[in-house]
Amino acid sequence: MQPRCEEPLKVVLILLDDRSYHEFYRHHWSFEPGLFQHREFLMSNNNDILFQPFTLGSFTIPNRIVMAPMTRSFSPNGIPTQQVADYYKRRAEDGVGLILSEGTTIARNGSRNDENIPLFYGEAPLKGWSRVIDAVHESGGRMGPQIWHVGSAPNRRSQWEQPDIESPSGLGAPDEPRGRVMSEQDIADSITAFASAAADAKRLGFDVVEVHGAHGYLVDQFFWSELNKRSDSYGGATLKERSKFAIEVIKSIRTAVGPGFPIILRVSQWKLQNYDVKMAHTPAELGDWLNPLVEAGVDILHCSQRRFWEPEFPELDGADGLNFAGWAKKVTGVPTISVGSVGLALDTISSFSGESSAPADLNRLRARMEKDEFDLIAVGRAILNDPHWVTKVRENKTDEFQSFAPSALAQLV
Ligand SMILES: Cc1cc2nc3c(=O)[nH]c(=O)nc-3n(C[C@H](O)[C@H](O)[C@H](O)COP(=O)(O)O)c2cc1C
Repeated sequence: MQPRCEEPLKVVLILLDDRSYHEFYRHHWSFEPGLFQHREFLMSNNNDILFQPFTLGSFTIPNRIVMAPMTRSFSPNGIPTQQVADYYKRRAEDGVGLILSEGTTIARNGSRNDENIPLFYGEAPLKGWSRVIDAVHESGGRMGPQIWHVGSAPNRRSQWEQPDIESPSGLGAPDEPRGRVMSEQDIADSITAFASAAADAKRLGFDVVEVHGAHGYLVDQFFWSELNKRSDSYGGATLKERSKFAIEVIKSIRTAVGPGFPIILRVSQWKLQNYDVKMAHTPAELGDWLNPLVEAGVDILHCSQRRFWEPEFPELDGADGLNFAGWAKKVTGVPTISVGSVGLALDTISSFSGESSAPADLNRLRARMEKDEFDLIAVGRAILNDPHWVTKVRENKTDEFQSFAPSALAQLV
């Protein structure tokens, strides 16, 4: 569909700035309504930090809203279906700036812990993913797969028997044996498998790739001293030493995708095995951990926390101090994505324990983003639940935000 009357409108828009034009242009392609509607839309969003575009090299997205990666287990035999493609397409139609897929696993036997988690290797799964990215692009969206190896983390919601469980030290949780210790060959093969998944992401036309290095799964199991007890060069007393596996994963991905293809790394202090873990206790430790990963090739850090408004080091800058993504941006200088209970009063863990959450406004979020604390905000459950969430934000209809009930996890809306 070609934009109508583009030139005259461009003249009107010159009165505004380049960013507004960019945002306008995207919407004109999608909806093609009348001129006045566009002008109102522009005027009402011109100053909204959430609708400012974000650019990194040649990668641009029209606003700051990212769909958080969320495992849905709707891909029988690991193959994403048309239903899965339609689910992501609806988010692109809604205007999500960047969609991150559910965790999708690399070519290792033990890389997933449920049979309906999608694979990111093999002809049929990659054909399914190709259908997904084509559908998202047709609707003007941008998307990256989150590539994943669960390591020895159990899936308490699945009865499926995970084959060939592997992890740094054969532990699924502190002091709990699960699976086998990875040999150096297993490590090398896993690094290669991450790199080929990233190369496939680029080949299929995805816009970015995200490595899941958070929440107590394989990459994070190497970071975490409680699960990494290795005495070879992949272990060590410091977080920096235990980052060797992740650094090699990122370096090999960079070699596979070349320069200019954005690599996002998701990290967290908390683990599903223990929500209270803190691996980096100070900004200096945080820098020692994250800077070598940035040097290895990470472009954007996705800093997972349960509630975005919680300060990471309140002893340094108080109760309203920088959050995890804020500190990560400060110590590394690279753009960061924050996340955690946006648009909802209660956090993810309460949803997994069966609690419903009331909606919440976005005032605190905008206040932090206006201070440039972090660059992008990932939204999980609110977007999972509501394929019109971004439109509601754009049109200031936050009174139409829905509550989140755990029953939402049972379907793809
Ligand atoms: C159903 C569900 C599945 C999730 N799966 C993943 C995943 O595959 N990878 C990941 O990094 N995080 C996963 N998460 C965590 C989310 O990405 C996000 O960090 C978390 O839900 C907090 O955001 P929210 O409060 O906006 O929901 C999942 C969360 C939910 C609710």
